[in-house]
Amino acid sequence: MTSPKKLFIKTYGCQMNVYDSERMAEALKGYEQTDTPEDADMILLNTCHIREKAAEKVYSELGRYKPLKDARPDLKIGVAGCVAQAEGGEIMRRQPMVDLVVGPQSYHRLPEMEAKVLTGEKALDTDFPIDDKFEHLAARPKAARGPTAFLTVQEGCDKFCAFCVVPYTRGAEVSRPVDRILTEARDLVERGVREITLLGQNVNAYHGFGTDGSEATLAQLIWKLDKIDGLERIRFTTSHPNDMTDELIEAHGTCDKLMPYLHLPVQSGSDKILKRMNRSHTRDSYLKLIERIRDARPDILISGDFIVGFPEETDQDHADTLDIIREVNFGQGFSFKYSPRPGTPAAERPEVEAAVADARLQELQALIAHQQKAIQDTMLGRELDVLFEKPGKFEGQMMGKTGYLHAVHVKNCDLPRGAIARVRIIESVRNSLAGELVNK
Ligand code: SAH
Ligand code: SF4
Ligand code: F3S
Repeated sequence: MTSPKKLFIKTYGCQMNVYDSERMAEALKGYEQTDTPEDADMILLNTCHIREKAAEKVYSELGRYKPLKDARPDLKIGVAGCVAQAEGGEIMRRQPMVDLVVGPQSYHRLPEMEAKVLTGEKALDTDFPIDDKFEHLAARPKAARGPTAFLTVQEGCDKFCAFCVVPYTRGAEVSRPVDRILTEARDLVERGVREITLLGQNVNAYHGFGTDGSEATLAQLIWKLDKIDGLERIRFTTSHPNDMTDELIEAHGTCDKLMPYLHLPVQSGSDKILKRMNRSHTRDSYLKLIERIRDARPDILISGDFIVGFPEETDQDHADTLDIIREVNFGQGFSFKYSPRPGTPAAERPEVEAAVADARLQELQALIAHQQKAIQDTMLGRELDVLFEKPGKFEGQMMGKTGYLHAVHVKNCDLPRGAIARVRIIESVRNSLAGELVNK
């Protein structure tokens, strides 16, 4: 028997890329994964196009592999993901050592593409096939895995925010069939998974069909997953405010397995900017939505995404964003300096001066960090369920997460990965909590 070839995958961007990388590695049968590019037979970069820096990283990373390729011309180099979709064959023109370019909706064709590049040809596929790539991928392997997993249920976006490339790189909204998702979820649970995060670029726009023709919304899908024995925690991300339906909000109050954490990007607190961003919600409608969500689940931790320095953002617009952050009291936040993306409507508009945008970003991040710590501190003295994910840095220590997604370190903990136990929170440091097992 010949020994398996080695595959090195590097993943950039969002959680959906993390999931896709797992599936691509599984699709490339005959390869086993390696952590070092030096001994790989194939290097695959799963890329992100969301901001200019993210896209440029790909070319600098490729440059680093040049000596490897020069030394071993048989080494195959592939670019997958959103830069592949956005730039296609241009990548091979700019970096001729690239053998393969595959867009996010075409990676079920990877095995054929791999066969082609082995003959010395180049392979390029950035189609948006109407058939669902997941249906063409082989069944997932049965190997044991860790206690948490991602499961993509929805892809693509129809929202066309004025700054964003995702509708162009991932295509229109598509939902996977209900039965496929349930089968995959059961399978993950059999392999040791206790927590599943349902993924979609617009996950709460999920609208899937069962084999019997029945329909399911995200809330209905969650209730079906709720019935799987051994699955203890359900999360979903990322949601758009306009797709937060009453039944989904209600599920946060009534479904015990649905964790009290919601990532709900707002981007800006200024109505003028929201309108120019084509967000189709206002500051007020967002605030009212948060109020309804907290009525259903008062302790829910809300996280958000924010963009500073969007074209023509004034000091007042920025102040409005800081203000909505205070008003919502976000417990977690991801903030970005606006990056003009070719082909998006906002890229045509006058930019805010870089130094001004930098200062706004710092101010916003300081505010979020402050709120995040204050909310984390409210956990002190409480007893919370923790799902243990992996050993900590120190002997006998385990790291797990609370329902609010705070990391907790527990000393003298002899529980295995995947165990859920009651923990009393005794310390709150910068980005995590420390606790002790209750009744021990
Ligand atoms: N589908 C998700 C995630 C989109 S990308 C959603 O709708 O929320 C993640 C975040 O990147 C966005 O929420 C936005 O805050 C940020 N982002 C997207 N395009 C950007 C751009 N051109 N410049 C800066 N940040 C951007
Ligand atoms: Fe991009 Fe807006 Fe779609 Fe999110 S909702 S992926 S920010 S276009
Ligand atoms: Fe990036 Fe594509 Fe995800 S652009 S954020 S990898 S959908």
